[in-house]
Amino acid sequence: MGLHKVRWGILGLGNIANQFAKDMALVPDAELVAVGSRSMDKAVDFAQKYGAQRAYNTYDQVINDGEVDIIYIATPHNSHAELTIQSLNAGKHVLCEKPVALNFSETVKMVEASKTNGKFFMEAFWTRFNPSIREVYSKVDQNEIGDIKYINADFAFNIGVATGRMIDPLLGGGSLMDMGVYPLFLSYLVLGKPKEILAASNFYATGADKQTSIILQYQDAQAVLHSSFVSPSDMKATVSGTEGRIRINSIWHETQSYTVIKNNHEVDYHFPTKGKGFTYEIEECHRCIHEKKLESDLWSHEDSLNLIQMVDEVRKQTGLEFASQEN
Ligand SMILES: NC(=O)c1ccc[n+]([C@@H]2O[C@H](COP(=O)([O-])OP(=O)(O)OC[C@H]3O[C@@H](n4cnc5c(N)ncnc54)[C@H](OP(=O)(O)O)[C@@H]3O)[C@@H](O)[C@H]2O)c1
Repeated sequence: MGLHKVRWGILGLGNIANQFAKDMALVPDAELVAVGSRSMDKAVDFAQKYGAQRAYNTYDQVINDGEVDIIYIATPHNSHAELTIQSLNAGKHVLCEKPVALNFSETVKMVEASKTNGKFFMEAFWTRFNPSIREVYSKVDQNEIGDIKYINADFAFNIGVATGRMIDPLLGGGSLMDMGVYPLFLSYLVLGKPKEILAASNFYATGADKQTSIILQYQDAQAVLHSSFVSPSDMKATVSGTEGRIRINSIWHETQSYTVIKNNHEVDYHFPTKGKGFTYEIEECHRCIHEKKLESDLWSHEDSLNLIQMVDEVRKQTGLEFASQEN
């Protein structure tokens, strides 16, 4: 079709930006054009490492680079809304890291900016595109394990001495926003929005949550979820139905396999990911851009809005507040 490569810009060159850029090299029609950091040295190093054409010491320069088609936002949560809206207003498509924003009201504005500017916008919920997760979803959909009654999922490890953005409430810190969104995502994917949410947290002195436990109450099902910065878990997830259960194997949110357990019989299914697994969300962005879509069918604007609404309700229950925000 003579389509040019999709030209990417990245904002915020931390942990996840490195992993993402490494995977981008595995997607043939992706081109890393520009990277932006608050530090010129960091930008130059990153550009060299991943073959980006231009390194900038401001995010604005990436956003205003005329050769960038899509911006990947990999900065702390509190800046997601502002940078997304700025990028969409500058005529760029946007892939923004999870959690999509600090709260529902910010997310509404991000979606509006996508629609007003006619540009693609997606939350980078990479787990949605993981091959095993897609299979699990279709098996559940095809009633392979009967009616789903229970989901158990967590995301927990001991991060040791907690510092920086991880525990800074101004930056949306805490285990819920960093990790708890994954168990919430799984339950939302399989069972949709719950009718009631119960949740409680333990907190750092900063006000960010150390650990959070959540019960999602559905009409005829329940989910028990947990996130933690202070102790580890197996990081397996279970989706359980009237006819059997599916175990999503560790680390479940980036899994390479799952197991169907029915009638005391286990069958393993292996789906090794291409790279770490960020390749699939990159490919989804490309597909949507080529098809001139503003949102993905697999992880839509509505999905991001629904999920962050659930997070807002959890925070209301636990008392987790971000000082910089209206709620
Ligand atoms: N999908 C995933 O698997 C995954 C995994 C981890 C994190 N994430 C998400 O990605 C985002 C970034 O997480 P990360 O683990 O990459 O964090 P990180 O290592 O701390 O990197 C964040 C980057 O954002 C930039 N930044 C801008 N303002 C900042 C501030 N006030 N404080 C600290 N950094 C600031 C910095 O880049 P410069 O210095 O270059 O400007 C920094 O390196 C978060 O929203 C997180 O939830 C997603």
